Amino acid sequence: MTATSLSTDEERHRVSVPDLEGTHYFTVLRWLHERLAPASYFEIGTSSGASLSIANCASVAVDPRFDLNQDVIGRKPFCAFYQIPSDAFFRRYDLTRIFDGPVDLAFLDGLHLCEFLLRDFSNTERHCRRNSVIVLHDCVPVEMAIASRTPSPTVEAHRKDWRPGDVWRTLLALRKHRPDLAFTVVDSHPTGLVLITNLCPQSTILSDDYTAIVREMMSLSLEEIGIEGLFSTINLEPTAVIDTPEKLSQRFWL
Ligand SMILES: C[S@@+](CC[C@H](N)C(=O)[O-])C[C@H]1O[C@@H](n2cnc3c(N)ncnc32)[C@H](O)[C@@H]1O
Repeated sequence: MTATSLSTDEERHRVSVPDLEGTHYFTVLRWLHERLAPASYFEIGTSSGASLSIANCASVAVDPRFDLNQDVIGRKPFCAFYQIPSDAFFRRYDLTRIFDGPVDLAFLDGLHLCEFLLRDFSNTERHCRRNSVIVLHDCVPVEMAIASRTPSPTVEAHRKDWRPGDVWRTLLALRKHRPDLAFTVVDSHPTGLVLITNLCPQSTILSDDYTAIVREMMSLSLEEIGIEGLFSTINLEPTAVIDTPEKLSQRFWL
């Protein structure tokens, strides 16, 4: 399919909402690694290894289907790969024991469905400390048509493998149900990054209220909220707010 066969609605949103133009997410991840110098890095969703290769510290990567095509080991003193879905990983293994300590930095980029990311966040937070940083990918869709659980074939053809899905719902749910967390949402190219700190490993809110939160997330309609409405609700900021060590350390410290 070509762009000329897009429906009127998709065409309208494609035109009215440009791609996010902030610094690419690989570069922002590099800033975090270089400037926060984490001792431990946890990643859900690794695929080719592009994001994992940025880390130089002890790392654990989880993906049911690794598709590595580059040197992901680099200078890492330790790197463990678990080729299983993240839920199975958390059921079978104790991340704190694997690292022999808490996770400093995590990047959650696995299955792009809201309930999966909610579980990935909740399960990861348990292995963090208060000032660890959990980064969520793809929560800031730039077009209505790519933000659904089943993107249209037209959008698939246009975007190839890139499917943000409905994890924007997880961001809204976290903001509502965990107001204690500190969020920085930046306009990283192409679909944003959410940096979360002030974590609470002992919190059971998300697991206790999981069913109700998922039901509530599913009831959210991006058509009703609107893309611009979503941007203002989540307080989308330019990546320039964290582009120097000084600015980063005002919001994050390990
Ligand atoms: C967008 S790719 C990750 C890209 C990578 N983080 C990067 O930036 O280079 C998403 C990955 O999530 C993996 N995935 C799918 N379902 C998953 C699950 N249940 N648990 C963990 N990873 C999953 C896929 O196999 C895929 O490799």
